[in-house]
This record gives sequence, C-alpha cells and structure tokens, in this order.
Amino acid sequence: MRVLVVGGGGREHTLVWQLLKSPRVQKVYCAPGNAGIAGIAECVPIAGEDVDGLVRFALENEIQLTVVGPEAPLTAGIVDAFTAAGLLAFGPDKNAAQLEGSKVFAKEIMEKYNIPTAESRVFQNATEAIAYIREKGVPIVVKADGLAAGKGVIVAETVEEAVGAVQLIMVEQAFGVAGSQIVVEEFLSGEEVSVLAFTDGVTVVPMVSSQDHKAAYDGDTGPNTGGMGAYSPAPVLTPELLAEVEERILRPTISGLRQEGIVFKGILYAGLMITPNGPKVLEYNVRFGDPECQAVLPRLKSDLLTIMLSVVNRCLHEQKIEWHNNHTACVVMASGGYPGQYDKGWVIDGLEDAATMEDVFVFHAGTALKQGNVVTAGGRVLGVTAWGKTLRLALDKAYAAVDVISFEGAHYRRDIGQKALRRDVRNI
Ligand code: AMP
Ligand code: GLY
Repeated sequence: MRVLVVGGGGREHTLVWQLLKSPRVQKVYCAPGNAGIAGIAECVPIAGEDVDGLVRFALENEIQLTVVGPEAPLTAGIVDAFTAAGLLAFGPDKNAAQLEGSKVFAKEIMEKYNIPTAESRVFQNATEAIAYIREKGVPIVVKADGLAAGKGVIVAETVEEAVGAVQLIMVEQAFGVAGSQIVVEEFLSGEEVSVLAFTDGVTVVPMVSSQDHKAAYDGDTGPNTGGMGAYSPAPVLTPELLAEVEERILRPTISGLRQEGIVFKGILYAGLMITPNGPKVLEYNVRFGDPECQAVLPRLKSDLLTIMLSVVNRCLHEQKIEWHNNHTACVVMASGGYPGQYDKGWVIDGLEDAATMEDVFVFHAGTALKQGNVVTAGGRVLGVTAWGKTLRLALDKAYAAVDVISFEGAHYRRDIGQKALRRDVRNI
C-alpha cells in the first residue's frame, strides 16, 4: 500500500518508522516530515494545514491510506475532505475531533455521560469568570476553549494568577477565538497518566500506558511544554485502574459520542489524573500524544497498518492487538530557551554514533537538512528513545545515547521515569 503520513514531529517519525515495518506497506510519504523522516520515507513539502494540497497530492499519487498525526488538521476537517474525495484517512472527522478542539464540548460530553472529571463551569464573560474564581478560591485551573498549542491551560496558585489568566485569554485574546469561552475548573491532585486507545466508534482497544513529562525542567518545575519525555508502561496505572478507565471513561466516551450521532474513528487519548477518588479526565486528545507515541508504538508487536485499516473500515473487533513486554523511555532534547524563544539552525552532532547503539531509536522532531548537515529547526528537536527489559535499563540506554548527541544550547530533563522508579522497586 501507498501511505501518506501528515505532520513533521517526533510522533510522525515514529508512525512512519512503525508503518514501514508492515509487509503490506510499499511506500511511505510524509508531509512535510523532517530530516529524520527523510532518511526512511519520501518527504513532500506540503503543510498539514494545506488540506486541499494534501488531497490533491493523495489523488495524484494514488495514496491508499493517509494517517494524520497532529490535531490542527483533524479539527479543521482534513478527514472529511479526504472522505469527500473518495480517499481513506485515519483519524476522527471534524465533529469527533471537537473532543480536543473544544474543551467546552468535551466537558458537556463528560457531564452528560457521567464521565469522571474535575468540577467546572463555562464562561463567555470575564467578569463572571473572575467572580466565580474569587468564590471558589485557589488552586484553580483556567482553560481556553479551543486549541492553543498547549499554552491555553493555566494552573493558578493565587487568585491574581487566575484573574491574570482570564485577562490573558478573554480580554487580551492571546489565543484568538480559542479564548472566546473558557472553562474554569477544580484543581485535581495526583499523578498523571496517558491512556491512548484505538477505536472504530464501537470497539475500544486501549494501548499500553505511558506517562508524559510536561514541565520544562527536572522535578516538574518550570513552564509547561508539549512534553519533555515519556516512558511506557506507567506503573501508576495498575491493571485494576486500567479496567476502571476502560469501563468508566473510554467506553462511555465513545458510546456517548455515538448517542450524539458522532462515530469516532482513530486514536482517543485520555489525559488522566489518578486522584484519591479514582481516575479523572483532564483532557481528551484525538490523536497520538507526542512524545507518548515514541514510548508506546515501539512496543506494538502487531501490524500498525492492519490495525489502522480496521479502524477506518470499522472492524476493529476482528483484530488481536499484541504488545512487547519490555519498557521504553524517550528523552526529548530541546532547543535552548524552549518553550520560550529559541534559535534554529545549530548543527546536531553524534547522530551517527547514536544510530549504532543497540535498542536505541532516535526520533527526529524539529530537525532539517542544511548543506548536508542535520540542524535544529524547532523547539523539541529529538526524542531519544530506547527499550529494555526494565525501565531502568531503557533509561540508561536512552541517556547513554543523549550523552553522545550534542548541539548548541541543548536542554533535556535528567529525571525522565523517576516517578515510576520510585513507585515500582521492581524496575530498579
Ligand atoms: P490539559 O491540556 O487540559 O491536559 O492541561 C495541561 C496540563 O495542565 C495537564 O497535563 C495537567 O498537568 C494540568 N491540568 C489540567 N487540568 C488540571 C486540573 N483540573 N487539575 C490539575 N492540573 C490540571
Ligand atoms: N504530550 C501531550 C500531547 O501530545 O498533547
């Protein structure tokens, strides 16, 4: 089959890499891709937002399946456009993608179908939101309704901070129309975990668990980022908790959407807080997480293309999805200054050496080719990933690879996986 992957981050490098393992895959294109993807697939310079351009490319090149990585094209309706053109695309349609595209919509679904989440209120008016914040007290969480590149959620420790968040989102409109409504919600404490599932709108098959590291610096300090590393499995999600997540969160979400007339096909990602009162939804995403994808997909034993086709064709129940028993760890190497301002164009050294290391996979995110060199081209640059029989071994190998790679200003967290190691002595 001829496959097109849309996107150009670490998630898409992992998707391309995994799809190429399928004996059914003849050729993989990636739009726009990055320097790492260019080494294993054909990159085409079409942006993910250029839906018309992508449809035209898919028609002209007889693409049989298009896999959409990022949320922006999904919420913009890329799958609807492909379907209308008679093409197969993996991912939810525009209606279903609202689950990530609108936090207000997601909250309405959760409320209506009794899915555990933080208590919340929706506001279209800043004065009312501020009055509610003063009444509820802190800590409290303020969220822009729409997509805001991971920056639209502010966990406020003080009333001033919460009020500042409302001003930023609603008055200054820092995220444009994404901030015309906000959700103000109860602060939940506990440990976070990501549960991703394949679903064809009826059958829901959870993947192995993973944990992201959202804060920029060690000890979960500093500003939130897209994710600075991940590992899988996450021992915080015991088999009992996973069963509860399936029963109380994943299945009711998909069946609730169906009752609303929405068939969700693709990846449902539940970002969860494991609270003393059980798992609660912090957010839904409608795609693979990045960097969770880098930690989860290498563990997939079954054929990814076959699974994706069964999702698109609504026969996921016929699949038996198998996973490797090992542990994976992904350490993100980011540009100096990320998630704030950073320079681009620094030469990355050591990639050849890392490529020779056993059980190591260096997934590229913000990289580009310039005069024969691989250079930095984004905030998150590489997802240095490794696997091993234990998490400790996976981490040792991933950090050994990080140690041979260098570029000006590189920064990364040194404590990926530490929560799991503390929790589960068997991993040490
Ligand atoms: P979201 O994009 O909604 O997942 O929010 C981004 C991050 O903000 C999450 O990964 C959590 O770390 C934090 N967060 C979101 N909602 C809450 C909440 N209700 N309580 C505590 N932390 C939260
Ligand atoms: N790593 C979190 C996300 O992909 O949204």
